[in-house]
Amino acid sequence: MKIIFATQNQNKLIEIKNLISSSYSILSLNDINCKKEIEEIGLTLEANAKIKADFVRFKYGLNCFSDDSGLEIDALNGAPGVLSARYSGPEKDNEANIRKIWSELNGNSNTKARFRSVFFIHLNNKKYCIEGQVEGNIIFEKRGTGGFGYDPIFIPKGYNKTLAELGPIEKNKISHRAQATKQFQKILNDNIKNIY
Ligand code: IMP
Repeated sequence: MKIIFATQNQNKLIEIKNLISSSYSILSLNDINCKKEIEEIGLTLEANAKIKADFVRFKYGLNCFSDDSGLEIDALNGAPGVLSARYSGPEKDNEANIRKIWSELNGNSNTKARFRSVFFIHLNNKKYCIEGQVEGNIIFEKRGTGGFGYDPIFIPKGYNKTLAELGPIEKNKISHRAQATKQFQKILNDNIKNIY
């Protein structure tokens, strides 16, 4: 059973493939030969997730889903949020994004933050929008080599290691995408009879 994940992000693809039952074949945009970078012009994670999933649904007519995710920092009024990938500019420079967060926080003792992941799903002519979150804190140094994006500066609540230090197995137990994926798996299971 095939379902298209509307992403070019290999890290996200690997994470989701590890989380979804192997009875579903998760294909990326590359796998269907779609090279287009879908413009994320929405003002919210929900809007961007819908833009990406709608593009695949309406261009290819396939069952599909997308993830739009981001980091929200309380002391920065929820920034970088929907701009997480491009916080320091359109180049999507991860190092510069992290430096900008440190500079904006400027040593603030309120380091409370969360990752949110919003999935928009087109499945058998039905639409779903679901969300997962992981709460935690920002630190002012990079720790760990796993994961991607802001993982080296984010310590999930109840842990003393960053997501980058925890590694993929632990990250996949607690992450925002893992929470959203659990709900997605349930939706897939409920629809199993109708997927081609
Ligand atoms: P998107 O591809 O528009 O959803 O951008 C998401 C951005 O949020 C990524 O480029 C990362 O900077 C950040 N992000 C999302 N999920 C994660 C994660 O699991 N770890 C670290 N950073 C993440």
